[in-house]
Amino acid sequence: MTPPSTSPATASERFRHRHLLGIEGLKADEITYLLDRAESYVAQNRQAGTRLSLLRGRTLMNLFFESSTRTRMSFELAGKRLGADVINMSVEGSSIKKGETLMDTAMTLNAMRPDVLVVRHSDSGAVALLAQKVSCSVINGGDGAHEHPTQALLDALTIRRRKGRIEGLVVTICGDISHSRVARSNIQLLNIMGAQVRVVAPPTLLPPMVERLGVEVYNDMRRGLAGCDIVMMLRLQSERMNGSYVPSLSEYFHFYGLDRAKLAVASPDALVMHPGPMNRGVEIDTDLADDIDRSAIAEQVEVGVAIRMACLEALMAHLPSIAPQESRP
Ligand code: NCD
Repeated sequence: MTPPSTSPATASERFRHRHLLGIEGLKADEITYLLDRAESYVAQNRQAGTRLSLLRGRTLMNLFFESSTRTRMSFELAGKRLGADVINMSVEGSSIKKGETLMDTAMTLNAMRPDVLVVRHSDSGAVALLAQKVSCSVINGGDGAHEHPTQALLDALTIRRRKGRIEGLVVTICGDISHSRVARSNIQLLNIMGAQVRVVAPPTLLPPMVERLGVEVYNDMRRGLAGCDIVMMLRLQSERMNGSYVPSLSEYFHFYGLDRAKLAVASPDALVMHPGPMNRGVEIDTDLADDIDRSAIAEQVEVGVAIRMACLEALMAHLPSIAPQESRP
């Protein structure tokens, strides 16, 4: 099958980067382009048996140094749906366990000539550093507490599908802002697209000078949620914490967990979002998380595949074209 396509020339003009390392540096028209392309892939993905040929002959490698369910599976599916060969490197079974450095691993994989590397790493900046050393395109699948661009893009697409626009909406991001790459990428994207962004967290979970990111800051959940259109909940990123940042999980839920009583002060049709994985009863009430009228959590996962297809397509336009495939008897 052929994709619902734009020509490679148009794609490379409309998305002008060889790597996708963050939302920082993207322009509103490039984000809109990716969202529009992803929209057509959402429709395509709902048809059974779709496998396109855009990436036939291309190799995508998933290199995840941190655990992942959604992002890694979603890139794998996106690559396969576009016809690429997809390889997942498991860090557990790799030479990283024998002490090989990130850069040596990257150079080894680069020598196998992949077309795209999707990398997740616990150090902020590690993915950008790696991108300087390899000859293929690199997508940041999450680096430390820094950026997670495809998550912000899929969140934007979910918002646009449910609300018809992003500009002018009030989006409240609640929880562990300090350690969240999802928060950082979303704050940037939402500002670029003209939304008004609020963050709500206890002072211990707010980065220093957070207002410089372009957000209104609240410590009180009800004040931060008042009249908002979108509520984005975040997990406590305990893997990035040194020591204790909250007195107890039950106290955290009491003050910062989203339940129906707190949501009641938001706009009556406010949408609840969460990037996953959720900790039910910690940052979100389980009944609310499962309420399909209020929560867009399943839709976020669905459109995530389409967003990754759109990102792969956009980066592909910058790769040298491949010779027609040889066929041997
Ligand atoms: C997020 C991540 O890994 O940054 N998850 C995801 O990609 N869906 C958020 C999280 O782990 O809490």
